[in-house]
Amino acid sequence: MSPREAQALDLFVPLDRSRRGVGRQIEGQLREAIRGGALVSGSKLPSTRALAEELAVSRGVVVRAYAQLAAEGYLDLRQGANPAVRAVAPSAPAPSPAAADAAPVKVRHDLRPHLPEVGMFPRTAWLRSLRSALATATDGDLGYVDRRGLPQLRGEVAAYLGRARGVVARPDDILITAGSTHSLSLIARALARSGARAIGFENPSHWLLHTVADRAGLQPVGVPVDRHGLVVDELEDAEVGAVVVSPAHQFPTGRALSPERRAALVRWARASGALIVEDEYDAEFRYDRAPIRALHGLSSEHVAYIGSTSKTVAPGIRLGWAVLPAALAEAVAEELWSTMLHIPGIDQLAFGDFIRRGEFDRHLRRMRKIYRGRRDALVAAVERRLPRLAVRGIAAGLHVLLELPRGSSEESICREARSRGLLIESLSQHALPGYSGPQGLLIGYGAILEPAIAEAVEELARAVASAG
Ligand SMILES: Cc1ncc(COP(=O)(O)O)c(C=O)c1O
Repeated sequence: MSPREAQALDLFVPLDRSRRGVGRQIEGQLREAIRGGALVSGSKLPSTRALAEELAVSRGVVVRAYAQLAAEGYLDLRQGANPAVRAVAPSAPAPSPAAADAAPVKVRHDLRPHLPEVGMFPRTAWLRSLRSALATATDGDLGYVDRRGLPQLRGEVAAYLGRARGVVARPDDILITAGSTHSLSLIARALARSGARAIGFENPSHWLLHTVADRAGLQPVGVPVDRHGLVVDELEDAEVGAVVVSPAHQFPTGRALSPERRAALVRWARASGALIVEDEYDAEFRYDRAPIRALHGLSSEHVAYIGSTSKTVAPGIRLGWAVLPAALAEAVAEELWSTMLHIPGIDQLAFGDFIRRGEFDRHLRRMRKIYRGRRDALVAAVERRLPRLAVRGIAAGLHVLLELPRGSSEESICREARSRGLLIESLSQHALPGYSGPQGLLIGYGAILEPAIAEAVEELARAVASAG
């Protein structure tokens, strides 16, 4: 830290001048701040001269307070340097036996199904787009912008969705959000405000989406899924005015919604005036089947289409979109506006630039090849080492479902796997009440390098064997 920076340090030391002993007050407040964690180990304090000036006390008062704290072991004082806070050992209670049981094991392979490969984040291209965003942002772009998101990015997203996913959307129909979960949360809140009390979900489907709906005030109602996808006939009984589906690659079973069911679902929405929320969370990654057009193309007035960069680029950039039916667009945009939690303008401009330069498509092509290699290695290893488990949902996405034979216990396999440093998930973690389908393990290959897959499956086979 330069002397100029150190001089400018702010320190919160409110003094009560009606009381005697300002030196004691300074000393006591700093001691409390260090013990309580407000001043963390390594923090620099102002020089004695700077603090004395700031507090309008004599320098000697501050010198004595610092010296006392140094003697007690709270501060490091060195000639020519600013005083620094020393590490104070916290008086932590002994861990309870329960906490010791749940102690984290060393993770050897993270096979959770939602993880993409962030190690291959296109840093150089992203940096170029960020620089360009900063260099070209107008003053207007940095102010309070359109609540739906910057028009430049909405235009790029509309063009991308049209050419890559067959989603015909005007930039004005699009809302830029922090990802699919955020989009669903805004839609659910808008539905709840308009009087809805429940929302349908494929059963099973991602547990986080259930939580999001629940927090918005909508009860999640499970609708069964079979090998053709959502059982649309059951929607009548569910008595919901909206349903969330993942037709291109159902999460977690990995099935695609059959053409008949797609048509039936749209018929249901038209007849009952209901909303379909189409969650395209990983549709960009398909390996050996023709791309399935988004459901949105069948009925844009009844489908809210939500997409995200979490799988395609990285979850940490928190960027996604919702293409909304006209009747809902304003209400959902208003939910976003009421939080003022818009996506930062620089990030929006950078992502727009990233798409415009062709970097998004380039990255997708590169990752598709890598994931396909991993998928093939995983399927081959499972067929070799776990031949009794049926492998499902392999045509797309970043995970597979291993269906378990009757009598196996998902829970004990997951526990065994965890004790061996493998992180996996089970189907029932994503089930809503009423689920009666098979048991299964969800194995992601987004975050594991291809050469490690055989060893991870070997370990999984041992976990399955010891779980009995
Ligand atoms: C089914 C499903 N939908 C959506 C998402 C993406 O959520 P987000 O865009 O909020 O990161 C995931 C991520 O794992 C998912 O599994």
